[in-house]
Amino acid sequence: MTPVDVAVRAAIDRHGPLPFDHVMAAALYDPAGGFYATGGQAGRRGDFLTSPEVGPLFGAVVARAIDGWWAAQGSPEVAVVVEAGAGPGALARSVLAARPACEGALRYVLVETSAAQRAHHRDHLRLEEPSVAFAALPDPDADVPTEVPAGPIVVSTASLPRVDAPCLVLANELLDNLPIGVAERTGDGWSEVLVGADGGELVEVLGPLDRGTAARLADAAPGAPKGARLPVPRGADRWLADARALAGSGGLVLAFDYGRPAAELAAVTPDAWLRTYRQHARGGSPLRDLGTQDITADVPVDLLRPVPDVLATQADWLRRHGIDELVADARATWTERAAIGDLSAIRARSRVTEAEALLDPAGLGGFAALEWHP
Ligand SMILES: C[S@@+](CC[C@H](N)C(=O)[O-])C[C@H]1O[C@@H](n2cnc3c(N)ncnc32)[C@H](O)[C@@H]1O
Repeated sequence: MTPVDVAVRAAIDRHGPLPFDHVMAAALYDPAGGFYATGGQAGRRGDFLTSPEVGPLFGAVVARAIDGWWAAQGSPEVAVVVEAGAGPGALARSVLAARPACEGALRYVLVETSAAQRAHHRDHLRLEEPSVAFAALPDPDADVPTEVPAGPIVVSTASLPRVDAPCLVLANELLDNLPIGVAERTGDGWSEVLVGADGGELVEVLGPLDRGTAARLADAAPGAPKGARLPVPRGADRWLADARALAGSGGLVLAFDYGRPAAELAAVTPDAWLRTYRQHARGGSPLRDLGTQDITADVPVDLLRPVPDVLATQADWLRRHGIDELVADARATWTERAAIGDLSAIRARSRVTEAEALLDPAGLGGFAALEWHP
């Protein structure tokens, strides 16, 4: 038994069967034995990389979106970007490498709960203490104007910071890793799938689901047959409440993830949207060997509270923020310098290949881009 198995069984002995989100939270984030607490990281899917790990192009487009948001605010002296679930920091590196127009104003905060992942931030980024990044935010009421240090200033923290300015809160493939409850369509509505213990095994049992959630599921997937299951995005809802409060008025919450409407998720077997990964391959049952495998779930985009203000495919979002222009530049460089074969020719060639992966409708291009404008 793993340390997380032992902790979950002890909790079941004390409290009775637990909702799946409690078990998922322990399996991924238990400080003593959770998958992410003990060194698990993105890139886990072998040849299925996250968008920032494909190469720097994704970050270059995100940098343009950051500039667009900053310009729409009137190009303030300080532009705060908070990247939640930053993993080892690949997206931060490529955003900063793209040298956005707002870089002199930029405070870039990497937020990552896993200490093992946070340790990588220092490998490639010059980090400052959070007190430096936020000590001198301009105070509109001050008699003497505050002297604001030039950016980019980059900091790394374990939890969302408190910031007295509108922020752009960014999250790539975070929501799918936040704990979900699981609900099952039963004869007379929707029930909660709980995790109990039977001898040596963790087993599923059905229990009551709160009325509000049951009503939302019934609305979102009215045709779901008996036995259909749906994820209940409790962890994402909690994170979203914090992220929207942090972003504040004029802020933006921007997330990229596997996402589908609830009706589509209810129409397929749960193993199509609740997946485990271990050592670059699909893992076993999410109730086995807790803490030794990653657990991810597609985001039911229309069950999130509140629903996003903007919902697009990642491919459409990248196009709206100028990926085609960046790729056209790269093609021109490649045509001009292919015969020379220098570094800029090779970078240009790789940018074209990255774009194919990021825009593939059957892969990363089909991901959901979700925006909330608090
Ligand atoms: C699938 S990884 C994605 C990493 C990176 N964004 C990428 O795209 O490669 C999700 C990361 O989110 C982190 N995480 C989970 N919950 C978090 C939270 N509430 N705040 C910050 N980080 C969190 C995990 O430790 C993990 O490193």
